[in-house]
This record gives sequence, C-alpha cells and structure tokens, in this order.
Amino acid sequence: MELKVTKGDLHTVDAKVLIVFHFEGGETWLRATEEVNKATGGMVARVIAAGDFRGEHLEHILLYVPGGLAAERILLSGLGKQQEFSPHRLREAVAQALKTLRERRLASAVLVLPEGEEFPCAAGDTAEACALGGLLGLYQFTELRTKEREKIKEFSSLVLLTRQEPGELAARVAQAEAIARGVDLARDLVTLPGNVATPRLLAERAREVALQAGLRYRAIDPGEAKELGMGAFLAVARGSDEPAVFVEMEHRPEGQDSTPIVLVGKGITFDSGGISIKPAENMEAMKDDMAGAAAVIGAMQVVAALRLPLAVVALIPCTENLPSGKAYKPGDVIRSLSGQTIEVISTDAEGRLVLADALSYAARFTPQAIIDLATLTGACVVALGNGVSGLMGNHDDLMARVQAAAEKSGEKVWPFPLWDTYFELLKSDVADLKNVGGRKAGAITGGLFLKQFVPQGVPWAHLDIAGSAWEEKDRPLVPKGASGVGVQLLTRLLQDWKPLGADGLQR
Ligand code: BES
Ligand code: ZN
Ligand code: ZN
Repeated sequence: MELKVTKGDLHTVDAKVLIVFHFEGGETWLRATEEVNKATGGMVARVIAAGDFRGEHLEHILLYVPGGLAAERILLSGLGKQQEFSPHRLREAVAQALKTLRERRLASAVLVLPEGEEFPCAAGDTAEACALGGLLGLYQFTELRTKEREKIKEFSSLVLLTRQEPGELAARVAQAEAIARGVDLARDLVTLPGNVATPRLLAERAREVALQAGLRYRAIDPGEAKELGMGAFLAVARGSDEPAVFVEMEHRPEGQDSTPIVLVGKGITFDSGGISIKPAENMEAMKDDMAGAAAVIGAMQVVAALRLPLAVVALIPCTENLPSGKAYKPGDVIRSLSGQTIEVISTDAEGRLVLADALSYAARFTPQAIIDLATLTGACVVALGNGVSGLMGNHDDLMARVQAAAEKSGEKVWPFPLWDTYFELLKSDVADLKNVGGRKAGAITGGLFLKQFVPQGVPWAHLDIAGSAWEEKDRPLVPKGASGVGVQLLTRLLQDWKPLGADGLQR
C-alpha cells in the first residue's frame, strides 16, 4: 500500500472513500465528522439516530455521499468510548476499515486525520497509528499461489488528509512504514515452509537486510562453530543434511562505541522433535520454530532504518531438528560453548540447546543486556494460550521495560518466576544439567535452563513466543497466520532505551 500525507480540505478532496471517525455515545463529535455531517445535510446524524451506527470500536459503516462533498463514499469508523481510547485502538480501527474496503474491491481511500483539542492523541502519534494499523492489518501472503491470482484483492493507496503542514507527520508515517516492513519481513519468513526457509535461506535474507541497511554481517559455518566449541548448537544440527549456520548482525552508528544490546532469536527452521519425534498431527506447524530468528532479523532491519543511536547485535542460531542415523540421541551428553555439560533427555528440547551456545557467545560483546526470543515450550502455550508471550529474566528493571514496550506496541507479555528452587528439576545424574525438567512448570524450566548460560552479571530477558508467533484467528492487526510478534516490541524497547542500573539484577 502506498501512503501519503496531504494538506487539504475534506470538502473538495477527490476520493472514492473518505474515512472519518466517531466515539461511541459521543456527545462531542470529532470536527471532521461534524463537517461531513453538515456538508451532507445531516446524513451522519441520521444514521446514528436510526441506530445503524453507534461508534463501537471496530464498528464501521459505508455510506454513499448524497452531495455536498467531492468524495463518493464515507466510511464512518467507530473508535469505542472516548475514555477507553488508545493509539492501539486507533490502529485496529484503521486496519479493520481498510480490510473492509479491500474486501469490497475498493482499493484507495482518503483518511481524514482526527486532529485538534477534542482528540486525545498528538498529531504525530495519530498519523503513525493510522499508517501502522493500515499496513499491518492488510498483510497477506500470496507468494506461493499460482492459480486464480486475479482473485487476490489488494488495497493500494491511502492518503492521510491533514489541515497542517504535512512535514512532521510524513516523517512519522515513514517510521510506521519502516516498522511495518520489519513486521512483514518476519511474517514472510515464518510463513515460508521449511523446504524454502532453510537455515541457508534465513542467513541469506539476513545478509540482504544487512547489506541494504549497512549492518555488519557474519555467518559462522559448522566448521567454525566446531572450532569455537558450540557443541550444543552442533548436536541439534547433526541429524539434518541442511548445513546449520550461526548468523551474527551488528548495527553500530558511527561514533557509537557503547557496548551493545544483544538480541538472540531461535532459528529452528523445522522442528520434527528429532529422535524424540513429535506426533504427526500438526507437525507442519513446526515450520514456525524460527519465529524468534525472524523477529530479530525484522527488528534489526527496523533499528537500522530508524537509525537508532545504539549499538545492537543480533545472534541467530539456525538449523533444522531432524532424526537420522547421525542425529543426536536421548541420553547423549554434550559439551556446550560455556563448558557446561548437558544430558539430553529429549531431542525435542532443542531450542534451549542452540540458545545456550548463542547466550554464551554473546559474552564476547560484553553486552549491556541480552533479550532472547524463542518458540521454546508447548507449556507456555498451555499456561497463557495464544497471543501472549511468556516473560522471564534476571533483572527487574529490564523486565519492566519489556512489559512497558509490549504495552505500547500492543503485544502481550506475562511474567513467570525463575526461582532457584526450580533448578532441582534440571539436575542430572551424569552431567551438569539436563535439557528437560519434566512436565511441571515447563515454560519456567525452559527459561531457567537458558539462565545457566547467560554471561555473569548481564541483565537478560527471555520471551517464550510459542503461543504468540502464530495467530489461529484473524485479529484486526494480525491476519490469521504468522504474527511477526517481537518486532514491534523490540523496536519500542530500543527506541525508549536508557542504560540499565546495576541494582536491578537478581542474584
Ligand atoms: N518448538 C517446540 C515448542 C513449541 C511447541 C512451540 C508448541 C510452539 C508450539 C520446542 O522445541 C519443544 O518441542 N519443546 C518441548 C520441550 C519439552 C521436551 C521439555 C515441548 O514443549 O514439548
Ligand atoms: Zn522441539
Ligand atoms: Zn523447537
């Protein structure tokens, strides 16, 4: 979709559809809606009085203009109760409105930006929310369809109409476009099937992003990984014929010599479970086991596009998890990069193994903080359901910031404790620890396992996105399928970044 911000008058603007908003039960009308009402001889008031439109959030109605405006149609969009307003609700309302238009094969519209004192959102935030909402809601993945392509509906152009000079708003819209591109990149990567999105392809896409955005890029191949001592990562990779690759990206603006924030993403491009093989039913869903990697690649693209004044490193261990005559086995003891030995109880608990080595590897950057994202446990989905990520970590302040960033970006996270008492569950008779803690507290033992590999004294947060990476039902901003979870959260977290105090570190 092409987006433009234009200064103009809603009476004379040429539009197939003019979008205006209304608060539920609103005594005070938004100015644009009021003007449309006047110009059309009270049409909006009649629709409301007749009970055909109440202004509930996500409610909308398409009306034909009887005259008085240059536009052909009005789309009246509900924002819900004014007291409950948030930019997130505006994003959702715009997404819903544009999806309706696309469904009716209306491919362009002019949205009158709600402005002025009566609107509870600053002009820049409003423009960004409208742009982001539209872009995110309209996402569709059509790349792999070859038949009836003419039936694919597209929405191609949205003009944001303002009464002020468009300069500042256009900059905010450009930001929204960068963010949406990052989210959509992550969604594309997660949607691509395992035979296409191989470790090599993930690395290739990461390299393209790096090249375009001016990021440092490095791919560690299995030979180098072996020399480095990444025994846990390589154990998982052994069953697959697709070569594993450990990707490293770095954003470092000129003159920025602070230590980086390190992002780590689980990049299992297909998780069959390995020798501890998963049941066949729904196994196809395990192509999304690289959603953490996708989020990190998407976020790096956004960080570079927004030129954030921070050093950020991405570490992305990519491999398949497959059974074969060479595959690692239950009972095997492997030596991780940290030197700690791990008894493999289940080869299906592979995510924590590849992440363990990535977390240890992060030490070489002396990071300010580490944030990892991983579709780590089914237990997290049992606990929190879909659309919510589990949050764990070792630093109160960092976790609070992740929660704040989630809130602002419309993602949902919920905390789990990582008390040492749970470590009982990870004790092994033959090695330093085992990779499975049993059925109890599964998301927590997954997090606690990772904690053993976080470099000493480094603030760390872990997001278990097993339940949030894939949306089973259409939501206004997340079409059914890959959600792109994490990209917006990470972007917000890094946009708001300030150095962390040492005192938040739990023991
Ligand atoms: N990739 C899965 C976790 C998963 C499950 C993600 C369902 C999305 C939906 C992970 O590698 C896994 O298999 N975890 C095991 C861990 C267990 C063996 C300790 C699980 O959750 O069953
Ligand atoms: Zn697994
Ligand atoms: Zn997995």
